[in-house]
Amino acid sequence: MEYSAKVMEHFMNPKNVGQIENASGIGTVGNAKCGDIMKVYLNIDNNDVINDAKFKTFGCGAAIATSSMATELVKGKTIQEAIKITNKAVMEALDGLPPVKVHCSCLAEEAIHAALWDYCKKNDKVIEGLKEPVKDIHEIE
Ligand code: FES
Repeated sequence: MEYSAKVMEHFMNPKNVGQIENASGIGTVGNAKCGDIMKVYLNIDNNDVINDAKFKTFGCGAAIATSSMATELVKGKTIQEAIKITNKAVMEALDGLPPVKVHCSCLAEEAIHAALWDYCKKNDKVIEGLKEPVKDIHEIE
């Protein structure tokens, strides 16, 4: 399997690994087929701007690279802008992924969405186009 240099870079030196204490929104998603799990933490200010994002991913190299890139892409964005960052945008920013690894980028998109959903729920907000996450796995710390 061929990975782009950018995927390798974000796999070897992922950005934003870790967690945020008292995060504004937390999203945990998993893929039942491969068993990989991603948890995303977002800090969102009073103007609905994401000022910090971190992640913990128990998964494959592409899952780590896409979590790293997705958290980079949402930082500094408003929640309305962040919702528009699709798995395709994450893949493009990484110069592509092999076809069998496309679902890893979907997991990254879902994890961001789940964290945004959590934020909205806690703050009584609505983001147009944001749907309730299919899966929310709470047992992972
Ligand atoms: Fe499932 Fe990468 S193999 S997230």
